[in-house]
Amino acid sequence: MHKDIKKILLSADEIKKIVSELAEKINADFKGQPTVAIVLLKGSMFFAADLMRELTMPVSLDFMKLSSYGNETNSSGIVKILLDTSVELEGKNLLIIEDIVDSGRTLLKVQNMLKDRSPKCVRICTLLDKPDRREADVYVDYVGSVIPNEFVVGYGLDYAEQYRNLPYIGILDESVYSN
Ligand code: PRP
Repeated sequence: MHKDIKKILLSADEIKKIVSELAEKINADFKGQPTVAIVLLKGSMFFAADLMRELTMPVSLDFMKLSSYGNETNSSGIVKILLDTSVELEGKNLLIIEDIVDSGRTLLKVQNMLKDRSPKCVRICTLLDKPDRREADVYVDYVGSVIPNEFVVGYGLDYAEQYRNLPYIGILDESVYSN
């Protein structure tokens, strides 16, 4: 285990199982309908890569990048759009792929933006949900794991751009960000 990690919350094997279970539900619901997967960078990259390889409908890939955190462990409250989608979304089934829903502000912003583009349907899938921190009223269709209010990193999630490449999700030791 990495020296800055206090505790492993989800091991690589546990993540794999969660991803498969999510894919099974999504495959059942989407019933083979063509879908655009919209991956919210950067954190969701690892999750999306694994999830998409288990999806059975025809699925195309697009990206958005929004930012709310800077290098802090607490959200700044401002969601900035750094990269927008590049394909036509009108009349399409959309699957938004997110790594973690915290305050919910990122998803609220994404939902509002996409609503204006007249998609056929928008569903949201997140690997992690931290409901204790929710501020915005967002409905998430698929949740991999509900987690406690701890600062987690790994499998795409960062602190100051580090730890994204850890194969598990772990709780970051306070000593890393308390000084
Ligand atoms: C993180 C995370 C989610 C969002 C969740 O992204 O990946 O997208 O914050 O927070 P919220 O529910 O409070 O909006 P971040 O802005 O840190 O960008 P990153 O994915 O590039 O690390």
